[in-house]
Amino acid sequence: MTQDSRIAVMGLGYVGLPLAVAFAEAGLHVQGVDVSHARIAELTGGRSPIDDITDERLRAALDRTLTVATTADADIAAADAIFVCVPTPINATKDPDLGPVLGAAGYLAAHIRRGQLVVLQSTTFPGTTVGPFRSALEEGGLKAGEDFDLAYAPERVNPGDPASASRAVPRLVGGFTQSATDRASALLRHVNDRVVTMSSPDAAELSKLLENVFRNVNIAFVNQLALLCERMDLDVWEVIDGAATKPFGFMRFTPGPGVGGHCIPVDPYYLSWRAREFDFIDRFIELAGDINLAMPRHVVDLVAEALNDRGRALRGSNVGVIGVAFKPDVRDDRNSPAADVIAGLAERGADLRFHDPHVATFTDAAGAVRDGVDLEALLAWADVIVVVTAHRAVDWSRVYAATDLVVDTVNSSAGRETKPRQVLRLGAGWSRP
Ligand SMILES: NC(=O)c1ccc[n+]([C@@H]2O[C@H](COP(=O)([O-])OP(=O)(O)OC[C@H]3O[C@@H](n4cnc5c(N)ncnc54)[C@H](O)[C@@H]3O)[C@@H](O)[C@H]2O)c1
Repeated sequence: MTQDSRIAVMGLGYVGLPLAVAFAEAGLHVQGVDVSHARIAELTGGRSPIDDITDERLRAALDRTLTVATTADADIAAADAIFVCVPTPINATKDPDLGPVLGAAGYLAAHIRRGQLVVLQSTTFPGTTVGPFRSALEEGGLKAGEDFDLAYAPERVNPGDPASASRAVPRLVGGFTQSATDRASALLRHVNDRVVTMSSPDAAELSKLLENVFRNVNIAFVNQLALLCERMDLDVWEVIDGAATKPFGFMRFTPGPGVGGHCIPVDPYYLSWRAREFDFIDRFIELAGDINLAMPRHVVDLVAEALNDRGRALRGSNVGVIGVAFKPDVRDDRNSPAADVIAGLAERGADLRFHDPHVATFTDAAGAVRDGVDLEALLAWADVIVVVTAHRAVDWSRVYAATDLVVDTVNSSAGRETKPRQVLRLGAGWSRP
């Protein structure tokens, strides 16, 4: 088998950059390629745009075998293998937008040469790699499986969780041909201890979607349980903690203000869209989407309820949001439920400010852009504080000591001394004596 050692990684974001750095650390020659001039300028300057790769680690990789270039300057022919890690978003009607994947394939069609291996890593619906991605690649005249190898290898990294980027996390690979499976597996073994081969790209594509739909459906399930607990005057967090003491057959998921990021609110729709082509309506996905998308509105209602308790209306009240990133301890604010929470509150007449130690500026779902404020300034200004994301870097003792009224959507008040009716918790109701 060919000994591939020169890699190109297309798309240097949360997935592509760690892969490029890991390959460089393993001693392979890596060209990182991106359409964005700003991204390449940032990387060339030694600044990492993502939390999981420090500037030091990026610079060390650049000092070794990593080079970065825009698509205009890249030398794709010099690579043995090309990994494609571009975004797979959904459009306004929640249908897959393969624009970036097909854009990358169209670019590669004009640049690939015989003997190369192309590996798609973007999360997508079953049939993408051997269907539209292959067709776009073959527009250049070369045939997959004959002139070049083609495989699919989904990524499992979970930004903000270093363990998810470890070598110990197994990787899946499904090749269009056995040769493609073997080559992609051999390359990934440089950066992962275990590579699991699958019978086809389609099977690997569906495994990746299963992983994320599983999370989305279970989060929806506990979100719904949280709503039920509010009506039953029970504490969903206590209920989940109780169930989680079972040492088998239960996996802990927690409720919250909604789902965010590039994966969980997006990927399920890739599957439900594809399922419809088979006259199959995926009711789990539709229902989970419905429940999770409604959570930010529920948070708006909780804030109105909290203010009502003090004889105030949402209109004209000062609402301070803590945390706008989509999850704790990261700066990633893509599809954050905070966007809908803030827009929903603003639409009902509240004045909004936010504090997030990781995010300086935030755009809400209505397109309004706000700069974050200092925590003390927020606490002094707000009539009510809404906790959307519980970053460790926030001084929570100070938040709960300085605020009379808090809507806590993520149980950040757990284990703290709170006064009766100081905190209205999602899934649990008012704090008690
Ligand atoms: N973020 C995650 O946690 C995660 C985890 C697993 C899988 N994924 C999947 O990986 C893929 C990439 O996600 P991401 O979070 O890294 O996205 P990202 O937005 O962080 O990065 C994508 C990069 O691709 C570049 N790009 C776009 N079109 C391009 C093109 N035609 N050619 C070259 N570069 C191009 C963009 O400029 C950007 O820098 C998606 O399919 C996503 O679902 C993401």
